[in-house]
Amino acid sequence: MKIKVLTLFPEMFDCLKSSVIGRAIDGGKLQFEAVDIRAYSKDRHHKCDDYPFGGGAGMVMMPQPIFDAFQAVDPERKSRRIYMSPKGRRLSDSVARELASENRDLILLCGHYEGVDQRVIELCIDDELSIGDYVLTGGELAAMVTVDALARFLPGVLGCEQSSRDESFASNRLEYPQYTRPAEFMGIKVPDVLLSGHHANVDKWRREQADTITSLLRPDIMEDKK
Ligand code: ADE
Repeated sequence: MKIKVLTLFPEMFDCLKSSVIGRAIDGGKLQFEAVDIRAYSKDRHHKCDDYPFGGGAGMVMMPQPIFDAFQAVDPERKSRRIYMSPKGRRLSDSVARELASENRDLILLCGHYEGVDQRVIELCIDDELSIGDYVLTGGELAAMVTVDALARFLPGVLGCEQSSRDESFASNRLEYPQYTRPAEFMGIKVPDVLLSGHHANVDKWRREQADTITSLLRPDIMEDKK
């Protein structure tokens, strides 16, 4: 899959070059590019924002540089274009899966300041996506969260073991507790069942733990899926 982000701060996306997403990019499972909106400004000083018509605090991102950036990276309008915004549809496990299975390339637009000129949303954008009910200083972190969450569902990005753990989230359960060596740390022992080598009992214990933890912490996500 190909993902481009349009941003005033392309260097912020350098952190995607590490760990699992970095390996996915290096291994060709994900093609990722951060495109600098400023490069498309026709202003002599590469200005990309201006005062809001009607007054009020803050600045608004001008339509021209964003429109031209879209024209340059997606001239035939073949990509799915998403604006990162608190007004958007909420990102969830199922939205991340849906984005990962999208046939089109993705372009994520990151706003800054008080947002982007409404006309660019009307002209260039297919969907708006929010990562939660809070306002970030810009869409970059939201775009990174989205790329990370969806990349996990791209074929070959995770090992089989982790992929199957994702299934457990899809079944509306939080993760059971995990332990590694040593078997005892600061006087706290790993539950005996995990050391027993009895796979059926381990599975049963994990299911029960996941049920208990979910009903305690997030009864809202449990519904009736088992
Ligand atoms: N930009 C600013 N806040 C945001 C949010 N909560 N989700 C997505 N994009 C944003």
